[in-house]
Amino acid sequence: LADGPLQGKHILVTSGPTHEPIDPVRYIANRSSGAQGTAIARALAGLGADVTFVTGPADVPPPEGVHVVRVQTAAQMLAAVQAARPADAAVFAAAVADWRVANAGQSKIKKDAAGLPHLAFAENPDILATVSQMGAGRPPLVVGFAAETDDVIANATAKRLRKGCDWIVANDVSPATGIMGGTENAVTLITDQGAESWPRMTKDAVAAQLAQRIAQVIA
Ligand code: C5P
Repeated sequence: LADGPLQGKHILVTSGPTHEPIDPVRYIANRSSGAQGTAIARALAGLGADVTFVTGPADVPPPEGVHVVRVQTAAQMLAAVQAARPADAAVFAAAVADWRVANAGQSKIKKDAAGLPHLAFAENPDILATVSQMGAGRPPLVVGFAAETDDVIANATAKRLRKGCDWIVANDVSPATGIMGGTENAVTLITDQGAESWPRMTKDAVAAQLAQRIAQVIA
């Protein structure tokens, strides 16, 4: 472990998409490269934190020097998060699928079967809200993300209150920004003190700043 202000602190980071099976060969998912979550885990480890990195199937490899827990589904991600507690802070950067397929096939759904398949959806657990609203065992600092395309600050401020997390890192993912899948990000940090917009910078720089802020609060 690196020397640094977060030495001795255990921090949980979720990252990447979740894959919710339709059948053994198909799934539904949100778009997520896992780049921002991976950068945050790397930055926290660089400040000396003991990081548990719970990741769905991401495009980018996990960072070195963290404890990696690989999952596929939201249900598995929640179970991994619960198993990794207690933590001094938790950062929920994963793009969790809101729904899973309730009638997922145990074998491949045949294209030539009678008509089109009818998928029934069930709501996935909200991992950020579950952890934010737990009584005993809640990490003292819980950070969520809000990827928005409109009214970024208003929507993210409402989301912070609804979920019960301490901070929300809001970003504008309108297609024109090129942020989805790109190397840069433009974020607004929302706390109980209000909204603070950071200049557009690389995802690594966002991660470094966020890790510094976390260290200021919990170190
Ligand atoms: O509600 P929305 O998906 O926009 O909220 C985004 C935030 O909530 C992110 O921090 C994401 O990781 C988290 N989340 C979660 N579990 C879900 C849905 C979102 O932890 N099922």
